[in-house]
This record gives sequence, structure tokens and C-alpha cells, in this order.
Amino acid sequence: MPATGLEIRGLCAGYGPTRVIDEVSLDVAPGQRLAVLGRNGMGKTTLLASIMGLTTRHGGEISCGGKAISALRTSARAARGIGYVPQTRDIFPSLTVEENLRTGLKGRPAGAIDEAYAMFPRLRERRRNFGLQLSGGEQQMLSMARTLLGKPSLLLLDEPLEGLAPVICDELMIFLSRLAATGEVTIVLVEQQIERALDFASTVVVMERGRVGWSGEPSALRSDRGLIERLIGVGIH
Ligand SMILES: Nc1ncnc2c1ncn2[C@@H]1O[C@H](COP(=O)(O)OP(=O)(O)OP(=O)(O)O)[C@@H](O)[C@H]1O
Ligand SMILES: [Mg+2]
Repeated sequence: MPATGLEIRGLCAGYGPTRVIDEVSLDVAPGQRLAVLGRNGMGKTTLLASIMGLTTRHGGEISCGGKAISALRTSARAARGIGYVPQTRDIFPSLTVEENLRTGLKGRPAGAIDEAYAMFPRLRERRRNFGLQLSGGEQQMLSMARTLLGKPSLLLLDEPLEGLAPVICDELMIFLSRLAATGEVTIVLVEQQIERALDFASTVVVMERGRVGWSGEPSALRSDRGLIERLIGVGIH
């Protein structure tokens, strides 16, 4: 399946009657890499969850590959090729690493699990351990590997680097850049590690209280430390 683009128009969404996402519009062309930045609580996770159909939509449209998906259930969105790695790693604690990976195959042959082990050798070492026996970083790897096994054409990643050692972060970002370069997947990356996110992205949006506070090219953000300070509240190192 080739990469699918994402178009969001005037999206308003939240939890029940509470509106968190307010009139968000954005476009990600097929095969592109969007970084979603912003301070804590600004709606980054809610935006990804809304794309996946896990929130209450109050208005607006979400389209994937030119087709409206707003009315589809989460499972139907997954079947359309949207892969989601949530901030809370959704692994099965009572299944082993290998069993967890099998749930991500989506009909692919079991041998494909070797791709996950090639990506994260640590998971091969832990293949017979239960999910609940893994460290936070290992759970993060497992959650990511399981989603990637399903070969998504649109990949939503919510802070995939959280809890990973710097050397693993480096490897993961190299891996994601290579994956993006295949042109087979469009990637939306929510990340607090600004420098790594800017290195990776082709476009950036900064969320501010549920809205798109700023959007543009990574270079424009990187070269304006005052803007970064104002929008994200951190110095860039
Ligand atoms: N399940 C929920 N029910 C009600 N409100 C929620 C729920 N989850 C998040 N919120 C609220 O929505 C707002 C945005 O939260 P969200 O998790 O999307 O932020 P975020 O930008 O991902 O933050 P962080 O950087 O801390 O992960 C916050 O005010 C939060 O309190
Ligand atoms: Mg979040």
C-alpha cells in the first residue's frame, strides 16, 4: 500500500462535551513527515486520538488518501492503513513479547516478526517474557514494533522516544527516517525532543490550547529561538 496523505479541516473534538481540539486544519502530503510540538496539555495526544476515532468529534472533517474517515470506527480506520502508537503503550501485559508481536501481523506471515527483531534486537532477547515483565523502554519498543509490523500507510506516533536511552533514540530516529524515505508511509510524530523532531520533520505544527498556534518548516522554527521559547517554552540544545 502506498503512503496516504492526511487532510484535516476545521476539526473540533474532545472528550464527551469537553472540547479540546478547536478548529484544527492541516495537510500532510503522502510520504511526508509532520512533527506536532507543543507544551504539555495543549492537545497533541487528543489530536492523534481524534485521527484514530477515539474522541468525540464536534465538527470538521478528517480525510485520509482523499477519503473522509470521520464517520468510521477506529477498527475501520486501522483497516484503512492508519497505525497508532499511543503515548500509553498499548501492549498486552499477559502475552509474551512474541505473542504481542503476532497480534500486529494483520494477516502477514509469522516470519515477518523477524523484521521487528531486526529493528529492536532487545525484543528478540525478551521474546518469551510477558509484557508486564518489560521495562518502560522495552514496552515502548514493543508497542512501536507491533504497529510497524502491520505496514501502516499513515503512522501516528505519540512521543515514541519517551523513556528510551539516547542511543536507542538515535537508532529509532534513523530507522524512522529510512522508513519515511521509502515513500511507503506518511508519519505524524508528536515529540517533546524538539531537536530530534526538527531533524526528522518536513513540516511542523505547534499546538497551543487545542489550536494550531504555528505551522511552517523546521528550519524557520530552528532559527528563531525566541519563537521556540514562546511556543514551546524550552531552550533548544
Ligand atoms: N480522557 C480525557 N478526558 C477529559 N479530558 C482530557 C482527557 N485526556 C486529556 N484531556 C484534556 O485535554 C487537554 C489536552 O490533553 P492532551 O493529552 O491532548 O495534551 P498533550 O498535548 O498530549 O499533553 P502532553 O504533552 O502532556 O502529553 C488537557 O487539558 C487534558 O486535561
Ligand atoms: Mg500527550
